[in-house]
Amino acid sequence: MVKIQQHVSLQPYNTFGIKTYAKSFVEVNDISALKEILALDGEKFFLGGGSNILLTGNVDALVVHLNIKGVELVEETDRSVIVKVMAGENWHEFVQWSLQHDFGGLENLSLIPGNVGTAPMQNIGAYGVELKDVFVQCETIEVVTGEKRTFTLDDCKFGYRSSIFKTEEKGNYVITAVHFKLTKSPFHKINTSYGAIERELETQGIGTPSIQHVSKAVIAIRERKLPNPKILGNSGSFFKNPVISKAQFKDLQLAYPAVPHYTLNDQEIKVPAGWLIEQAGFKGMRFGDAGVHTQQALVLVNHGHAKGEEIWKLAQQIQRKVLQCFHIHIEPEVNIIGS
Ligand code: EPU
Repeated sequence: MVKIQQHVSLQPYNTFGIKTYAKSFVEVNDISALKEILALDGEKFFLGGGSNILLTGNVDALVVHLNIKGVELVEETDRSVIVKVMAGENWHEFVQWSLQHDFGGLENLSLIPGNVGTAPMQNIGAYGVELKDVFVQCETIEVVTGEKRTFTLDDCKFGYRSSIFKTEEKGNYVITAVHFKLTKSPFHKINTSYGAIERELETQGIGTPSIQHVSKAVIAIRERKLPNPKILGNSGSFFKNPVISKAQFKDLQLAYPAVPHYTLNDQEIKVPAGWLIEQAGFKGMRFGDAGVHTQQALVLVNHGHAKGEEIWKLAQQIQRKVLQCFHIHIEPEVNIIGS
């Protein structure tokens, strides 16, 4: 029998550290409890690690905290393993587990906040690797029917910080477990294509890096640039990096020859939103307790007692200024809840 609590503070459950309340709240530790909750009437709000949400008010729906744990080796060959990980496992702890077992593929995704179950939603990515590169399938429960459904890699329609769970099927399924395909030594595919990793390894004097070395380099880079949510509330990158046309990019480059960019294809170029926000003058700015991180302008921070509305107001102010300066619309990556 699951225990539903009333008027619960959500502060410990969101990495921004915003103090709002859930009208009712329940923690779910296994699939049967989840099914029991799904059978109840009324709106539900599913919460994983709380690392990609901005709460702008109290939540009237029943907040369901998914805390189903477990890591299981389901298949092993000479070259690789398939690991099934339950949704409530902490992402970084799972990455560390994989490195301790010398399973490769997750090292570039070290230190990303959040839980395993929410990682596919936005196809988490960093330093040249995305979740989809190691993803096999995920197990879900359909919210309306309570039935199990498995989504394959193709079914998930992964894109840049996007999946079917954020688009067509938004709110329709709860991810309960994810299956990953990881490499065994000597079949690891070391990915140091991202310049910052190469430089970090060079500084550390490492010529032939192992997956553990890559992870350590990623951790060092992230610790320098990205605030630890336990110390300074934040949700990682607040905005997505915008994709613009080649023609628009040429105009931008004419005005700002040093603009960093990644060419996606013949027609499209991705520009770092952090650079646009810094150029617009917001880096390190603070309005009350809502602020822009000093080391990475893409990250909005809660200096202590900021309200979700205040952070959202700052985000909108940034959006307007970036649009005004560069004619580029930047879209939140974080889910804004309650606005
Ligand atoms: N830049 C600035 N000013 C800033 C921030 C960045 O000029 O304040 C410039 C940098 O100098 C660099 C470029 O923008 O030339 C890119 O910066 P960075 O390497 O820090 O990466 P990003 O594009 O800002 C993305 C992801 C991060 C991920 C890093 C590394 C998005 C929205 N963000 O950031 O993901 O860790 O690349 O791969 O795609 C997250 O999603 O929460 C996250 C942290």
